[in-house]
Amino acid sequence: MDSRAWDERYAAKDLVWGGEPNGWVAREVAEITPGRALDLAAGEGRNALWLAARGWRVTAVDFSRVALERGRRRAAELAPQAAERIRWVRTDLLAYEPQEASYELVVVAYLQLPGEERSLVLRRAATALAAGGELLVVGHDAANLTDGTGGPQEARVLFTAQDVLADLADAPLETVRAERVRRPVARESGPPKDAIDALVRLRRAP
Ligand SMILES: C[S@@+](CC[C@H](N)C(=O)[O-])C[C@H]1O[C@@H](n2cnc3c(N)ncnc32)[C@H](O)[C@@H]1O
Repeated sequence: MDSRAWDERYAAKDLVWGGEPNGWVAREVAEITPGRALDLAAGEGRNALWLAARGWRVTAVDFSRVALERGRRRAAELAPQAAERIRWVRTDLLAYEPQEASYELVVVAYLQLPGEERSLVLRRAATALAAGGELLVVGHDAANLTDGTGGPQEARVLFTAQDVLADLADAPLETVRAERVRRPVARESGPPKDAIDALVRLRRAP
């Protein structure tokens, strides 16, 4: 999907992914001392706002004008002090080169791109890590298509934790966690069903 299609999707519905941070992001980051965070594909900023409220200085990057404006407005209304710690950047991640060695945390949540594009963005994300910094990648797992629920229905934009490790095989990172995880999702009819995510947490050597 291009930025126009994402803008249309965000314009059609408020808080497409909800207002709370993603559960994996909250779980993995809760124990990390706040510093500088880069949120790539930040969307409406649910993770960026949560991070800023915990004291992180956040650079939130996305190419959807509608999502970023909503995120900025929501942050200013809900948490003005935290909002001052968020910088919103509208750009295409395929062209974005983050400042190297500048972040204690980089989050990439549910950025579903074809393999070569994902690899490009993740390799640049890794260069943005400061010594000791952590990269957290969360996304719809390849297995979600057949065994899970929701998410994109195009196999080429789904990935596994092993795909992410392969993308970053040349980066100087140690693996903290690389796994397939399940997330219960409420459905309009029928019992809740698990969505299947890929979760990878990597750390740059101190
Ligand atoms: C599923 S949403 C996830 C948003 C956010 N990470 C979250 O978890 O709430 C995917 C986001 O990726 C953004 N995106 C997709 N391709 C992009 C690209 N090439 N450059 C910048 N943003 C992109 C979309 O605009 C959208 O906001």
